[in-house]
Amino acid sequence: MVDVESIRKDFPILGKGVIYLDSAASSLTPEQVVLKEMEFYREYRANVERGLHRFSQRASEEYETAHEEVAHFIGAKGRENVAMVRNTTEAINLVANSLDWEKGDKIVTTVIEHHSNYITWLRVAQRHGCTVEVVRSNREGIFDLAEFEQSIDDSTRLVAVTHVSNVLGCIQPIKEICSIAHEHGALMLADGAQGVPHIKTDVMEMGVDFLAFSGHKMLGPTGSGGLYIAEEQLESTEPLCIGGGTIRDVSLNSYELAVPPQKFEAGTPAIAQVIGLGEACRYLTGVGMDEVKRWDERLAEKLAEGLSEIDGVEIFGPSDPRQRVGLVSFNVRDMNPHDVALSMDTEYNIAVRSGHHCALPLMKELFGLPDGNARASTYLYNTLEEIDVLLGAVEDIARV
Ligand code: ALA
Repeated sequence: MVDVESIRKDFPILGKGVIYLDSAASSLTPEQVVLKEMEFYREYRANVERGLHRFSQRASEEYETAHEEVAHFIGAKGRENVAMVRNTTEAINLVANSLDWEKGDKIVTTVIEHHSNYITWLRVAQRHGCTVEVVRSNREGIFDLAEFEQSIDDSTRLVAVTHVSNVLGCIQPIKEICSIAHEHGALMLADGAQGVPHIKTDVMEMGVDFLAFSGHKMLGPTGSGGLYIAEEQLESTEPLCIGGGTIRDVSLNSYELAVPPQKFEAGTPAIAQVIGLGEACRYLTGVGMDEVKRWDERLAEKLAEGLSEIDGVEIFGPSDPRQRVGLVSFNVRDMNPHDVALSMDTEYNIAVRSGHHCALPLMKELFGLPDGNARASTYLYNTLEEIDVLLGAVEDIARV
């Protein structure tokens, strides 16, 4: 089990008196990551891959090492398989803008997706005459694989599914869905925004063609994230932007792109953030992702069980805690979820998120709740005592 007390010492922000239960929106950052970013600014602040002087050489080395750390963390073959981007949304948009869509191509996605993995495909459909087919889950966010078998056919170009729902916390069988996609020659994109921070990720084992993820949800800096691109797709995947840093050669009338990952990283990149993300991966690897998952399950179980026992509280997501990460959304009687979240903050010093969580199709279609719900989400630095405080606060609010 993780040594939470020792981990908490790495997060001085936890001393500010707030119980932070909003890591699904953005995690906290340990000192190690903050110091690694500061080291860049204090010791060798320079551009990467563009200078022969010592600062630039050091910056380039650190930047490349961070790529390797991140690639290793998700089980990618090499650093060329991970394009550094700002966040999951940018990674998904890179794929949407990169494929040579043809009229009639089908995109299969699901009703539980975050808007970033949903409206992106609606726009592709509008622009290129493609169709989007939406697979529905039950109210717990659990899918019947037969539904994917039915929706995915030989006209399917891409299957885009989240590994973990940011509203229901449910974990999806990406490997199995990926096999169905590949049987029909379709590409598979997994939204790893909530999965990569919590579950040991092995892209080779999952078999996905693309995996999008955010650094800021996994102890890394804001403005950092990645897109894993499988070997077979590296050549054909077009960069979102091109310009400085992305070329091998340029003539008056033509250009030749550089090898990946450079071809995807146009302009001066977010150097400090990428270096910080590498450090975050080192930190999580040091703790051990199996340990992180185990602790997550403990917290999730206590959270889900405790909330469901409170009179007037409805919780959402899988009833089996092993099917979810440490994330539980809930509503209190007929209270507006924003009022619940505000009261948690002002009266109990607890940070939770409220609203539709950028997943309106899920909220409307599965629950008829356009105002959404409140959501408590945990990470490796949360304690069982903090969950107790949250449960007490919700009990108080529900009593009013
Ligand atoms: N996608 C993030 C969340 O679910 C911001 O809160």
